[in-house]
Amino acid sequence: MTQARERKTWETTSAQATFALGEALGRSLVGGLVVGLVGSLGAGKTQLVKGIAAGNAVDDVRKVTSPTFTLVHEYPGRFCLYHVDVYRLAGAAELIALGFDELLQPDTVVVVEWADRVHSAIPSEALWVELIPKGETSRTVTLDATGEAAIRCLDDLRAGQLHLNCLAEDPE
Ligand SMILES: Nc1ncnc2c1ncn2[C@@H]1O[C@H](COP(=O)(O)OP(=O)(O)OP(=O)(O)O)[C@@H](O)[C@H]1O
Ligand SMILES: [Mg+2]
Repeated sequence: MTQARERKTWETTSAQATFALGEALGRSLVGGLVVGLVGSLGAGKTQLVKGIAAGNAVDDVRKVTSPTFTLVHEYPGRFCLYHVDVYRLAGAAELIALGFDELLQPDTVVVVEWADRVHSAIPSEALWVELIPKGETSRTVTLDATGEAAIRCLDDLRAGQLHLNCLAEDPE
């Protein structure tokens, strides 16, 4: 049986716009979801996470920085947001050995920078976000939801964010 899947792409033309998209996403996310972020150095992954933290009512989003050396940052809000950066890890086995699976609970959301490097550690039902630089301040941001909870989150996001610059609606 093929898994239910839904994709949608936005274009952001500034760091603030990526923050705003993240903020809307942070309002739509629910506990139990993993968000896998994919994108080159400086693509805007952490910028999006700052927005997610704001949407999750984290009091001071200036504290949101890449957890490159500590691996995991924790930001309590409406749900507990775990921000993981696996840039320096060898791969999925190392992440799992460090206790990654224990982060995901019904009241937590786990956001992973460089998630494509640890693909097999990410649950098959997840929300993947790919950021592709299109110029100095322009990014295409594609959200790819697999499984009911992630799809519900994406539907909720697009219902509320029609004003954001939507590039393409993938056929259902
Ligand atoms: N449309 C945009 N969206 C996001 N960031 C943008 C955009 N335009 C310019 N920027 C700039 O690009 C940089 C993105 O940095 P950020 O730390 O979010 O990237 P990253 O993907 O987390 O990088 P790293 O892989 O090093 O962790 C910031 O300096 C931000 O101001
Ligand atoms: Mg980063």
